[in-house]
Amino acid sequence: MNILQDVSLQAYNTLAAPARARYFVAVSTDAELREAIQFSEDKALARLILGGGSNIVLSSDYNGIVIHLCMKGIESSEVSPDSIQVSVAAGENWDELVQYCLAQHWYGLENLSAIPGNVGAAPIQNIGAYGVEISSVLHSVFGFDIDAQEYRQLSRNDCELDYRDSIFKRALRDRFVITRVDLQLSREPAPVLSYPALLEAMGDGEPTPERIAETVRRVRAQKLPSPLEVPNAGSFFKNPLVSEQVYHSLKAAYPNVPGWPMTTGYKVAAGWLLEQAGWRGYVGEGNLAGLGTYSHQALVMINPGRRLGSSILQLADQITASVQAKFGITLEIEPRVY
Ligand code: FAD
Ligand code: EPU
Repeated sequence: MNILQDVSLQAYNTLAAPARARYFVAVSTDAELREAIQFSEDKALARLILGGGSNIVLSSDYNGIVIHLCMKGIESSEVSPDSIQVSVAAGENWDELVQYCLAQHWYGLENLSAIPGNVGAAPIQNIGAYGVEISSVLHSVFGFDIDAQEYRQLSRNDCELDYRDSIFKRALRDRFVITRVDLQLSREPAPVLSYPALLEAMGDGEPTPERIAETVRRVRAQKLPSPLEVPNAGSFFKNPLVSEQVYHSLKAAYPNVPGWPMTTGYKVAAGWLLEQAGWRGYVGEGNLAGLGTYSHQALVMINPGRRLGSSILQLADQITASVQAKFGITLEIEPRVY
């Protein structure tokens, strides 16, 4: 294990924000992770657990230790003739896992194709796309409990998964490092076509898992920029949950507002709110030069100028204020801000 000092994080966050870490260590085994945590405890350092860096905003240099999880490995075991448990190390790339499972004819991940980042981070915000969230296939996670100083398993229920949320963003925030994710997949295809844009793009023909994966990739490529070409962190804001009353008055004023009923209230499409407020395809000027929002998806903030995270947050503040002023709705940032 090699603990480095004063390391650039620009290549480690998909927004390409320039920032430096006081300490940086890549860990590939559970023992190395324990050692890295011990080092941080001994020196009373703050910790940033890093996967693929596709859902973080680095607002300044990080005056602690960045622990980059690089554990690799995929194992599988038969649960029943139809069901297979797949245990995946945190450092595996999520989309490579999706493709690997599809090639084995293990189904359940196809709607989650092409999401950037690593497997260990997937439960943190309960990744979701095109009608499926990881909650529908997650069996359990295994990882290091920092308070208890031991490795332990958490069941899916223990993870308290919700829309872009989990216990790892609340009670266990910064307290638990996921080193392995266990998924329960099926040998029998069970196509989920509940997302209208996916259903429409599928057209006629058999909804095989392979076609679903292919279609999701195609739709995503039309809406989302590749971070390799245009630095971004996917959706910058969550879709807000509003009360039934707020939703109905919004709908009366704007009949086209996209919204979905939830257990309580309605979820509203933040991208639509941003577009109505004039933010789709915004190109920053002056102190916001080099920043903007994507031309095909207003919810995606882009950073072609590789500006500092503090400037990205300045633009986010302006967007939030304008949506608040126009619709009276408060937006919440999706990526974790450091
Ligand atoms: P990081 O950015 O490295 O980390 C994110 C957070 O999780 C940090 O707080 C970090 O400390 C914590 N963390 C990471 N790994 C661990 C671990 N092993 N244990 C404990 N904490 C950990 N998300 C969706 O849900 N749906 C989408 O459709 C989607 N599309 C995207 C499209 C683009 C173009 C981009 C850039 C992002 C998109 N995202 C999407 C967001 C992102 O891909 C996911 O949140 C992904 O799971 C982040 O993985 P990561 O490894 O990059 O996490
Ligand atoms: N819309 C607009 N203008 C825009 C963007 C969207 O009018 O600029 C409208 C669309 O026309 C559609 C609705 O808003 O009616 C929803 O848009 P879309 O299908 O693109 O999905 P989204 O709600 O913007 C969410 C997730 C994405 C995920 C897609 C597909 C959040 C915050 N974002 O986006 O996840 O890929 O659905 O399921 O929930 C991410 O989290 O980083 C992410 C990319």
